Amino acid sequence: MVTPEYWQGKRVLVTGGAGFLGSNLCHALAGMGARVTALDAMVPDGGASTRNLEGAGVLLVRGDIRDTEVHSLCEGVDVLFNMAAQTSHMGGQKDPVADIAINAVAQVRLIGVMREAAPKAIVVHASTRQFYGRPRSLPVDELHPVNPPDANGVSKWAGEQYWLLENRVLHRPVVSLRLTNCYGPRLRIRDARQTFLGIWIRRVLENEPFEVWGGAQLRDLTYADDVTSAFLMAAEQAASPAAAGQVFNIGGSPPVSLLDLAGKLIAANGGKGSFETREFPADRAPIDIGSYAADDRAFRNATGWAPAIDLDKGLKLSLDWYRQRLADYL
Ligand SMILES: NC(=O)c1ccc[n+]([C@@H]2O[C@H](COP(=O)([O-])OP(=O)(O)OC[C@H]3O[C@@H](n4cnc5c(N)ncnc54)[C@H](O)[C@@H]3O)[C@@H](O)[C@H]2O)c1
Repeated sequence: MVTPEYWQGKRVLVTGGAGFLGSNLCHALAGMGARVTALDAMVPDGGASTRNLEGAGVLLVRGDIRDTEVHSLCEGVDVLFNMAAQTSHMGGQKDPVADIAINAVAQVRLIGVMREAAPKAIVVHASTRQFYGRPRSLPVDELHPVNPPDANGVSKWAGEQYWLLENRVLHRPVVSLRLTNCYGPRLRIRDARQTFLGIWIRRVLENEPFEVWGGAQLRDLTYADDVTSAFLMAAEQAASPAAAGQVFNIGGSPPVSLLDLAGKLIAANGGKGSFETREFPADRAPIDIGSYAADDRAFRNATGWAPAIDLDKGLKLSLDWYRQRLADYL
């Protein structure tokens, strides 16, 4: 359980705070009385949107972690939620220099500033299951070999490791959460750049067929509110021996195939909607990880976290949320 009193008056910086997961976190934090600054470069290809922070009551600073003067933003913060990243797998393949500049080099820069400006602050870093690569077996725990399938996996792994060094060497309370596919309000749905599920949601709401590539791949999706509670609980317990300096996989609902997921989305839309299956595109196949399901027992045991929203409910909540705001997100 999240402890709302813990957050009252806390100074919090959320990098990538106008993006999908960062903005959901900002809403929750501000709602509990935290003083929140969101730092975001508003990268057009990702999930950033000023709409995401409407009504949140947080300060949005537009700036790029690669070159913005961040000292004053970091000064005196109690908690840093580090969500900013280059997240596109194909984007990382096309421009690996830009990818590593954000996901690793800028992380080292931010670490240096945080050492001076907020040496005792808690850090919860948003990491990814991507760098496990094609799983050897399911479910995947934290001891699974790291075998990045693409440049983005390499840069995200490097960025995470630099943050973990801050715990190992300087004893900063750092926790890294390796996320699976996340979905819910404030996801980019205009196209498939953030996730396939974004464009599926759009098409269903527009009464247009969507495409399922392959279909047998398993995914264990996490609803946005459950991701938010995982980050909050990780921060609250970041200094405990069970959590400090740890990496944790975060899973969600029990794994389903993409074909089953497509059926569930249509069911959540009152049975309205249709899809076509097609072969997984040849240009993406070499970096595809196939099926994935997280073993997230370590995080559950360390913090008591458990997802509260099952897939059927989460899909319905997502559709309800976007139905009222579709034009704003296209
Ligand atoms: N959404 C998922 O399913 C998922 C899965 C695994 C890992 N993650 C991780 O979670 C984090 C948040 O992802 P998200 O889904 O909310 O993506 P997102 O694209 O919605 O959010 C990332 C935000 O970071 C900002 N950003 C990018 N580069 C920046 C820079 N140089 N300086 C400042 N801001 C910058 C973007 O403008 C965007 O608003 C990322 O670190 C991502 O790797 C997400």
